[in-house]
Amino acid sequence: MKKVHIMTFGCQMNEHDTEQISGLLSAIGYVRTDAPEEADMILLNTCSIREKAEHKLYSQLGHLRPLKEQNPSMVLGVCGCVAQQEAAKIFKRVPFVDLVLGTKAIPKLPMLVQNLESRPRVLDVSDAVWSDESDYTTMRERKFNAFITIIRGCDNYCSYCVVPYTRGREESRPSADIVKEARALAADGVIEITLLGQNVSSYRDGEHGKSSFPHLLRMLNDVDGLKRIRFITAHPKDLTDELIETMAELPNVCEHFHLPVQSGSSHVLRLMNRKYDREWYLNRIAALRRAMPDIAITTDVIVGFPGEREEDFQDTLSLLREVRYDAIFGFEYSNRPNAKSGNFPDQIAKALKVERLQQVFDVQRGISLEIHAGMVGNTYEVLIESANPRFPGTLTGRTRHNHAVTFSGSEDLVGSMAFAKITEAHPYRLAGELIA
Ligand code: SAH
Ligand code: SF4
Ligand code: F3S
Repeated sequence: MKKVHIMTFGCQMNEHDTEQISGLLSAIGYVRTDAPEEADMILLNTCSIREKAEHKLYSQLGHLRPLKEQNPSMVLGVCGCVAQQEAAKIFKRVPFVDLVLGTKAIPKLPMLVQNLESRPRVLDVSDAVWSDESDYTTMRERKFNAFITIIRGCDNYCSYCVVPYTRGREESRPSADIVKEARALAADGVIEITLLGQNVSSYRDGEHGKSSFPHLLRMLNDVDGLKRIRFITAHPKDLTDELIETMAELPNVCEHFHLPVQSGSSHVLRLMNRKYDREWYLNRIAALRRAMPDIAITTDVIVGFPGEREEDFQDTLSLLREVRYDAIFGFEYSNRPNAKSGNFPDQIAKALKVERLQQVFDVQRGISLEIHAGMVGNTYEVLIESANPRFPGTLTGRTRHNHAVTFSGSEDLVGSMAFAKITEAHPYRLAGELIA
C-alpha cells in the first residue's frame, strides 16, 4: 500500500474534489495518511479565490522542500484552482514539483500517476470527460453527510472573480445521475446532503429544460432516508419565486439560504457585474421571509472593490442592518489573474480595506449576537457533526437553520440526530445542552 497526504485549501467544491481524488487514488492502491513525512505522494489541493489563498500554496511548498530533498522519489503534486490557472508556470516557479493537475482533469489522475513512472514531470489542465460521477469511488470524509456536485463551472463573470477561469464553463449534471448518487448515499446511511455548484440556482437539466433546480429539489426530497437537503451557492439574480415556494413546501430542504450580496451599493454591484441591484436583492430577501418567516440567511461581502466610495460602503453597512443576517463571510477585495476589475480605476488602499472590513465585522457581531440571544431557551433539532478534540466530551451539532451549537455528550453520538436546548449566546457560536 502506498500512502498519500492531501492538503485542502479551498471551498466545499475543492473539499469534494479531494474526496474524489482520494477515491481515485484508493482504486490504484493508495491510502490516506495525516503524516506528510511518511507519504509516497503529497498533493496540495489549492484555491485561488484571493491572493492570500494563492500565497498559501507557495509557502506550503517552501515548507515541503526539505522533505522532497530527503526523499526525492516522493511525488509532490499541485492540483485545484491554482494548478488550473498557473499550469506549467508552477514548474518554472517551483522546480521540485512533479505533478500539476487542473480541476477539470481529475478523472485522469490514475493514468497520470502511471505516467509519472516513466516521466519526470506530468502536467494536465485539459478537460476530462466526466462520466457519471456516481460511478466513481469517492472517499467521503463523513458517513452521515455528503456533498453532491450538481453543476460545475461558472458563466457569470463577476468582474472580480477568478472562478470562471479556474473551473470553466457552466455544465449541469443529468438529474438522473444526481438522484442515483443521492439514493446510493442514503442507502449507505447518509442523512444530510449538500448540493454543490458555484451557482446551483442556474442548474438546468436537459430532460426538464428551464428552471429545473426546484424540480431537482423535489426529486431529492423524495429520496428515502434523507432528512436534510442543503445547497451552496445560489446567485441572487436567479432566485425565483418558484424556488422560494418549492423550498418552503419541501420538508427536507433546510430553512437556510446563503445568498451572497457582495455589496449594498447598486453602483458597486454594477461595477462587479452582479446583474442585480440593491432593490432587487432586498426584494428577494423579503420574498424568502414571506414564504419562510424564520429562515436563516447568510451572505458574503467584499469591501474595497475598485471605485467603492464612502457612500457605497455605508450602503453595505446599512444593508447589513436592514437584512440582519445570521452570519456573514467578509473579505477584502483582492485582484485576481484574468479578472477584469484588476484594471479598473480607483483601486482602494490596503489600509482602507482593512478598516472597512473591521467595521463590517463590528456591525455584524452585534446583529449575530442579538439573533443568537433570541434563541436562548429554545430547543432545536441538531445533526451531531463532530467531537471537539480540544475539549474532550464536547460535541458540535448543526441546526436545520445552519447554526452550530456546542454541548457535552459522548463521541459515539457523532452522526446522529438529537435535540439541543440553547443555554448561551455568543457572537459566533451557541452553547447548549442535549435533551434526553
Ligand atoms: N459562486 C459563489 C461564490 C464563490 S467565491 C457566488 O457567486 O456567490 C466565495 C466568495 O469569495 C464570493 O462570494 C466573494 O465574496 C469572495 N470573493 C470572490 N472573489 C474575490 C476577490 N477577488 N476578492 C475578494 N473576495 C472575493
Ligand atoms: Fe465567481 Fe460570480 Fe461565478 Fe460566484 S457567480 S463563482 S462570484 S463569477
Ligand atoms: Fe473554490 Fe477557491 Fe477554486 S473558492 S472554486 S477552490 S478558487
